[in-house]
Amino acid sequence: MADVVTMDKIVSLSRRRGFVFPSSEIYGGLASAYDYGHYGVLLKENVKARWFEAMVRERDDIVALDSSIILHPKVWEASGHVEGFHDPLVDCRTCKLRFRADQLEHSRCGRKPSKHPGETDECDLTEPRHFNLMFKTRIGPVEETGMDAYLRPETAQGIFINFKNVAQIARRKPPFGIAQIGKAFRNEVTTGHFIFRTLEFEQMEMEYFVPPAEAEEWFRYWVEERFRWYVRLGLRESHLRVRPHGPDELSHYSRQTSDIEYLYPIGWSELEGIAHRGDYDLTAHSRTSGTKLEWVDGEERYTPHVVEPAAGVNRSMLAFMVDAYDEEEVAGRLRVVLRLHPALAPVKVAVLPLIPRNAEIATKARALYEELRRSVVAEYDDSGQIGRRYRRQDEIGTPWALTIDEQTLVDDTVTIRDRDSLAQERIPISAARAVVEDRLAADWTSPKAD
Ligand code: GAP
Repeated sequence: MADVVTMDKIVSLSRRRGFVFPSSEIYGGLASAYDYGHYGVLLKENVKARWFEAMVRERDDIVALDSSIILHPKVWEASGHVEGFHDPLVDCRTCKLRFRADQLEHSRCGRKPSKHPGETDECDLTEPRHFNLMFKTRIGPVEETGMDAYLRPETAQGIFINFKNVAQIARRKPPFGIAQIGKAFRNEVTTGHFIFRTLEFEQMEMEYFVPPAEAEEWFRYWVEERFRWYVRLGLRESHLRVRPHGPDELSHYSRQTSDIEYLYPIGWSELEGIAHRGDYDLTAHSRTSGTKLEWVDGEERYTPHVVEPAAGVNRSMLAFMVDAYDEEEVAGRLRVVLRLHPALAPVKVAVLPLIPRNAEIATKARALYEELRRSVVAEYDDSGQIGRRYRRQDEIGTPWALTIDEQTLVDDTVTIRDRDSLAQERIPISAARAVVEDRLAADWTSPKAD
């Protein structure tokens, strides 16, 4: 069956079920800014938790960091961002819109959205000009004596400037990594692809410091490792690919980069970048700060090279939602279902009393819910017809629903319904928590066709 998903359907579901709202809506909205509602927060937290598990908790060679968003302005001079972090932009004198010069084919003309900028006779585009992507702010309450500063456009620099602290205090020897999850900000000119590209977003970055001779090997290792992470979390391999950057695409710091791309409804686009940054950053900060950022151990002394897997939380969340979105007809009605990996699903299990006004059923259901929520995110829903309640859970991707009915009062069993197969099974109520926990820990692959 053809994939039914479109960006509009994801936007509509996100809004309908409170995953993501347009930001500042009561003031007319703010382009390229979004707010995350309850299920969006839960899904986003799960993406971050799975990354942290794979990158830090399950490894001995990577430690965590949480650095400031506002760093000393010299950091960005040293890193090359003041000089080199910009987009080429063109303005249209007719429709007054601004476009990225390198992405005109993905943009829509302000007057005739069916055309790209520059395609109609009326379009009057300026020559490309370079605009720095960093948001500027000012430190200090007095305008005249304050200091210009930037909101970080990547979390990576906070890691580089802490290299010495971590190498000495955490007593790490290359190869070792420092991982960080946090907000980053870019003054992007965007083309409205929902949360794919926004002004404010979260990154999950890891800088892996290695002996220079091993950098190539580690680069290949991390491309493979990160690709597998997405597959393990259920993204269909047919919708993922690795695309090496050509020499003219490389960022100012990079010797080699490969993007992991996902087939979004807008086409193949970057989900994560893995870069071989060489000794660019440590050398630059050593030079500018006067503090040598090197590895020293007895006679051994060198500047480590860096391999960096840099992922976006919001873009990952979007890919997981897109990949999971499905529609099917069940008993003559459309069922919208998010077939999310259970480890990512915002709610793991729903407890549904079949006849809520039956006090005995309600009491049993409530007790089961209280027990389940001690170990997993659970939801109790007693409003409306049971079919409706199932649909509500399907739409937010809840993998299992437990229904308590009159039979429960006879033999203490409940029905467990599987979101994907729709299979229903009776299990003892006393085993329900263990069954949910076991299923949650099991491997999972998407039932969606390639
Ligand atoms: N430290 C390297 C770095 O920042 P990047 O490719 O510019 O590399 C890494 O960013 C990831 O951050 C991207 O693959 C993407 O997932 C995410 N990202 C970058 N800009 C973004 C934006 N404006 N909105 C949402 N996510 C973004």
